[in-house]
Amino acid sequence: MPKESLTVRTAIADDYESIAKLIHQSHTISFAPFASREWVESRLLSKYRDRWKELLSGNHSTAATFVAHQPDGTIVGTVRVASLESNEFDAQLNGMHVEPSATGHGIGSMLMERAIEFMKAQAFTNVELGVIASNDGARRFYEKHGWQLHNELPDGIEGVPIAIYSLKP
Ligand SMILES: CC(C)(COP(=O)(O)OP(=O)(O)OC[C@H]1O[C@@H](n2cnc3c(N)ncnc32)[C@H](O)[C@@H]1OP(=O)(O)O)[C@@H](O)C(=O)NCCC(=O)NCCS
Repeated sequence: MPKESLTVRTAIADDYESIAKLIHQSHTISFAPFASREWVESRLLSKYRDRWKELLSGNHSTAATFVAHQPDGTIVGTVRVASLESNEFDAQLNGMHVEPSATGHGIGSMLMERAIEFMKAQAFTNVELGVIASNDGARRFYEKHGWQLHNELPDGIEGVPIAIYSLKP
């Protein structure tokens, strides 16, 4: 899949099903080498559908979800940036996933560039993201894009250790 044939655009409400399936696949396939079996097996596609239906139906001007799609419309990657009510960070990047068979071909980098453009347009000054601490591939990817390790949370989320990264766009 040459990345030249891909387009990155803002997600629309109708994309919720494709995004839910893609992230569910990424969590069950790409996360399998480093996440616990119980965590992987407890992922329910219906929950992903509900979450993304809700996220994409809101009219939130300081949040954006981006998708990378093939010429036939098939979505192969996604990322979301949303403002945060926090003293330390003004926004969060999450939901960064590339279809498992398409990783390593620059799709994540295209999405990251678009996400950073959005952060700059929104004048966000300090953005955070959380990544499962044992997800070495994603950590390398974020570090290559300028993110810096901010904090390590050994008890993390649902008992899974999390690394927090920050970026000043
Ligand atoms: C992390 C991710 C979004 C990066 O997107 P990508 O399109 O694979 O990345 P790119 O091709 O633009 O950049 C390649 C770099 O990403 C990193 N990387 C992370 N996971 C990788 C993978 N499975 N295959 C190849 N590169 C990967 C490497 O640092 C690589 O650079 P290197 O080859 O010089 O080491 C993507 O690999 C992915 O979806 N992984 C599974 C889901 C995930 O971990 N998401 C992050 C949740 S916090």
